[in-house]
Amino acid sequence: MTRRLAGKLVIATHNSGKLREMRELMAPYGIDCVSAGELGLPEPEETGNTFVANALIKARAASITANLPALADDSGLCVEALEGAPGIYSARWAGDAKDFVAAMARIERELQAKGATTPGQRRAYFVSALALVWPDGHEDVVEGRVDGQIVLPRGDKGFGYDAQFLPDGHSRTFGEMAPDEKHGVPPDGSRALSHRARAFQDLERIRLRA
Ligand code: IMP
Repeated sequence: MTRRLAGKLVIATHNSGKLREMRELMAPYGIDCVSAGELGLPEPEETGNTFVANALIKARAASITANLPALADDSGLCVEALEGAPGIYSARWAGDAKDFVAAMARIERELQAKGATTPGQRRAYFVSALALVWPDGHEDVVEGRVDGQIVLPRGDKGFGYDAQFLPDGHSRTFGEMAPDEKHGVPPDGSRALSHRARAFQDLERIRLRA
């Protein structure tokens, strides 16, 4: 069965930083996007144990309620020396106040407590699981990842943990990069940098140009 994104697509997020990036990533396809917030959809509880499970919870809820295809991202930062924390709890570490300065300080504190001072001891990666759920129940799922290390926060261009993440092969953190550098998708088809842009590239391969 061919499924085409001809009409509207719901971007199933209430996170403004993510919404901005997802809109920018969808822009080249000319698809009419509306956010879950704009439609007044409730925010489902993220009860899954994995990024994929939580992305599916959000996309399914939005697709069923809006009767439209819905795209959700569940993402987070995994610090290897902290056994993958904050991981799926990345948003929760910032609390109701969404205080990412405090969340980044907690990561730094916990790394210091483990004596993790060298770059090799401070390895981390961002993950983005994307779920595209269709009104007929079909589900497309992809996962993107970018590896790097935790550094002292630098830059104010991004959101969440961007300032604390130095991607491998770069001298600037995500927080110091312009949006296009972080999540731009190279027109020549080469690998994008951010976890979310990489997941979009994979989703495009399986779906957006189908
Ligand atoms: P959730 O997917 O809504 O559960 O939230 C994921 C959380 O992970 C966000 O609130 C951010 O704190 C963090 N996160 C995910 N992607 C990024 C990113 O690209 N940059 C910085 N932080 C991110």
